Amino acid sequence: MARAGALVLFGSTGDLADKLVLPALYRLIANGRLDLPIIGVAKTDMGLDALLERVREGCGGVRDAAFERLAGNLRLVSGDYRDPGTFARLRDETEGLGFLVHYLAVPPSLFATVAEGLAGEGLNRDARLVVEKPFGHDLESARRLNDELLKHFDEDHLRRVDHFLGKEPVEDLMVFRFANALLEPIWNRAHIRSIQITMAEDFDIRDRGAFYDATGTIRDVVQNHLLQLLAILAMDPPPSTDARAQLDEKWRVLRAVKPIAPADVVRGQYSGYLGTDGVRPDSTTETYVALRAYIDNWRWAGVPWCIRSGKALPATDLEIVAELHRPPVTMFGDGDVPESPNLIRFRLQPDAGVTFDLLAKEPGKQHTRPVPVSVDFTKVLGPMEAAYERILSDAVSGDPRRFARFDLVEESWRIVQPVLDLPERPLPYTKGSWGPERAAEIAPGGWHEISTTFD
Ligand code: BG6
Repeated sequence: MARAGALVLFGSTGDLADKLVLPALYRLIANGRLDLPIIGVAKTDMGLDALLERVREGCGGVRDAAFERLAGNLRLVSGDYRDPGTFARLRDETEGLGFLVHYLAVPPSLFATVAEGLAGEGLNRDARLVVEKPFGHDLESARRLNDELLKHFDEDHLRRVDHFLGKEPVEDLMVFRFANALLEPIWNRAHIRSIQITMAEDFDIRDRGAFYDATGTIRDVVQNHLLQLLAILAMDPPPSTDARAQLDEKWRVLRAVKPIAPADVVRGQYSGYLGTDGVRPDSTTETYVALRAYIDNWRWAGVPWCIRSGKALPATDLEIVAELHRPPVTMFGDGDVPESPNLIRFRLQPDAGVTFDLLAKEPGKQHTRPVPVSVDFTKVLGPMEAAYERILSDAVSGDPRRFARFDLVEESWRIVQPVLDLPERPLPYTKGSWGPERAAEIAPGGWHEISTTFD
């Protein structure tokens, strides 16, 4: 894995570069983790000074030594991506800089054009191509796109960003599972009744109407982010920590996930969505989805993996709740089955932690009736590095483990393929609610309340 001599940022005047990529580069420089030439490529010729001013705003208005280093490292090449002249200028600008990392913060419709333009000038040799999501619109278009890119870059030199893989709490799922002996013996169908994954956002689609309407929740976050979480939670222990071993295990478990049945999906659309700029007046795109997936292997057969996500919900939260089977015999509490089951909660956002919901004897009482208690394992995991910093530093170093390998992307499209573009109109829900009521039917026994909404 070659380390980059320079970073080429396509789309350097765009939204993604402005909001996420350039501020992350600034922070990496500020932390002493990165120091290399950055060549911004953009269609718009806004000039270096204007771009730097925007970056400064994006970084919170700083003007310190790190910002000056970023400014000193940044150069610009402007031109149309369809014009070979743009790539000829880029070649001159990158002459002698060594191994190049081309980071494509541009719409996916331009990925193949840029890859071809790079190859036209030999800029695909000694180089890596990094592309943002979405990778394809369905299984077939993902394969087509991949074939286009493979003409110029082989899999070892391709990186597909899924920024959830850069989140530290996501990585902690693997550490918590495999660094402790506590969980693994019960982490299977014999002990786990169901797993629920909730990704809630309390904001609507904002100004992303045209993008979102062509995408919907399943494509936007389930096919990528949430199936990656499922893979990390459901996979077998990899034989080692090397990238290939981890990616292979994720692939093995995704292979075993059955395609989702339309009957196992409830889609919703918040009221007011249809009036949003860029949204088709008769759109049937979902802004909410609740679905159930099944993994056909010895560890998980029959266990429902319930996933829900939506915009305009009551909270912004990412949480996983594993529900354990109840004890086979009830000894306490007037012979009744205890009200609450044991739950293991992985909280990923907004704060990170792991909680076990257990039952204990009510203190100070003669009787032995159980009451729910929460055991918090990791209250605060310390300051965390932002996902984009980790993704970018991996893009530069070449470490593939926090990217989506194509065979994993392929499997995740296969899993959601039967429920993309369902013809039925999504069920309406009010902004600020937990989605359509029918979504409750997806999770056996209903959805568990998530931590951020506790009193
Ligand atoms: C993006 C989706 O990939 O992830 C957005 O396109 C979503 O719709 C976002 O809001 C969530 O990411 P994060 O890191 O803010 O939780």
